[in-house]
Amino acid sequence: MKIGILISGSGSNMIKLIESCQNSKNAFIEIVISNNPDAKGIEYAKLKNIKTKVIDHKEFSEREDFDNKVHEVLLENNVDFLCNAGFMRIHGEKFVEKWFNKHLNIHPSLLPSFKGLNTHERAIKSGVKFAGCTVHLVRSGVDEGPIIGQAITSIDINDDKISLAEKVLKLEHKLYPKCLKLFTDKLVKVKNNKIIFSDKAIEVLNDFKV
Ligand code: GRF
Repeated sequence: MKIGILISGSGSNMIKLIESCQNSKNAFIEIVISNNPDAKGIEYAKLKNIKTKVIDHKEFSEREDFDNKVHEVLLENNVDFLCNAGFMRIHGEKFVEKWFNKHLNIHPSLLPSFKGLNTHERAIKSGVKFAGCTVHLVRSGVDEGPIIGQAITSIDINDDKISLAEKVLKLEHKLYPKCLKLFTDKLVKVKNNKIIFSDKAIEVLNDFKV
């Protein structure tokens, strides 16, 4: 399976996906695309000899034109499956349809709580005692879509948004490669918007049981 990764920033999740695919017979990172010319992750991908492309969203007046360009580059590179890794743009409906069930996102909260931005700050303010991250299939609502996996951590009395972000990011780095593996190794199916997990898939995700 040829994987495309979309990033906007430091790309630490991207690095973990790249590392995990280095040991996979079924998955190959074909291209990393960033909407941000200054994304640090692009440099790392280049060092690893992975093809990179910057498609600066600021050069497009319409969201759809930006989406179409990204789609075009993905097709040119024969990408089969797409992973958003710290990608900070919202996709239009048409783009979402084109990659339906072939497109993952990671979000640093326990969805469906705290969709959108500033998740850690909002979680702490709300008083919830657990936080975490979610990998889900992309649908057209922001941070919506069938959940593949989640990992949790506690919010301790002294946590602030920075310490919580660090704890959650560590979990993201473990969770995302495992969730991608479920697709590249065909361990899950999607039926009527529901994920059907094979026994092997449950084993892969077992680390995250509390
Ligand atoms: C991560 O928490 C990711 O979920 C969020 O941005 C943070 C940084 O991601 N969207 P990365 O280091 O660019 O992968």
